[in-house]
Amino acid sequence: MDESIVGLLKGVELFSELNEEQLAMLCDLVVAQNFTRDETVVLEGDDSVQALYLIASGSVQVYMTGADGRETILSFLERGDFFGEMSLIDGEPRSASVRTVTDAKLLAIHRESFLKLIRQSPEIAMGLLSEMSKRLRKANRQIGSLSTMSVSGRVAGTLLNLMEERGVRIHTDGGKMVTVIHNRPTQQQLADMSGTTRETVSRISSLLVRTGAIAMTGKDIVIFDEGMLQEKATKG
Ligand code: CMP
Repeated sequence: MDESIVGLLKGVELFSELNEEQLAMLCDLVVAQNFTRDETVVLEGDDSVQALYLIASGSVQVYMTGADGRETILSFLERGDFFGEMSLIDGEPRSASVRTVTDAKLLAIHRESFLKLIRQSPEIAMGLLSEMSKRLRKANRQIGSLSTMSVSGRVAGTLLNLMEERGVRIHTDGGKMVTVIHNRPTQQQLADMSGTTRETVSRISSLLVRTGAIAMTGKDIVIFDEGMLQEKATKG
């Protein structure tokens, strides 16, 4: 048994309920694959579906490409997350594309092994349903905001989503609680997540910086005033 793979599998939320014996079984089913940054792992519309992927290290973005070639980012996923489950479950082509944002190590589980695993383990089936419900809730929020909100409300909503997904709460030197989003998306990625252009995101984020709601460094976004973002995201 490959202990390093068992270690990686233990970091995957979906398998957190499995005991050592079940983990050992799973270990025999996965194949580790290394990807460099910006590599496409899954292509929207592909119907030669083979595997589900677990992220052992690095991060990926899930996106769709419009008829005009513009990309809409649906989500960023990182260590411990999984993707590629939808087409394995419903037998339809891939619903979206997935590409690496950093170098990444992925663990692939072949379709048949994965389906067998779900049938055998109610814990895994529940974990999967729980994560899929979470994604659907987030997608519903995004649909709601796209149809009802102003563009500044959508950008604020994107920042709040990022904060919820991967924000880290810290105390500043002055003793204030703030939230930091490390390895922040680029302005273009924020635009692709908010259904707008890079120029508009740049204008809105400068405004949020000036009002003291956020700060942006080369690598991070610091959120000082969540209330202000909430207000923008709900009132538009
Ligand atoms: P699948 O359709 O097999 O291939 C693309 C994958 O992207 C899909 O499975 C999901 O794992 C993932 N995906 C699709 N839509 C979303 C979304 N809205 N949020 C997060 N992940 C998604």
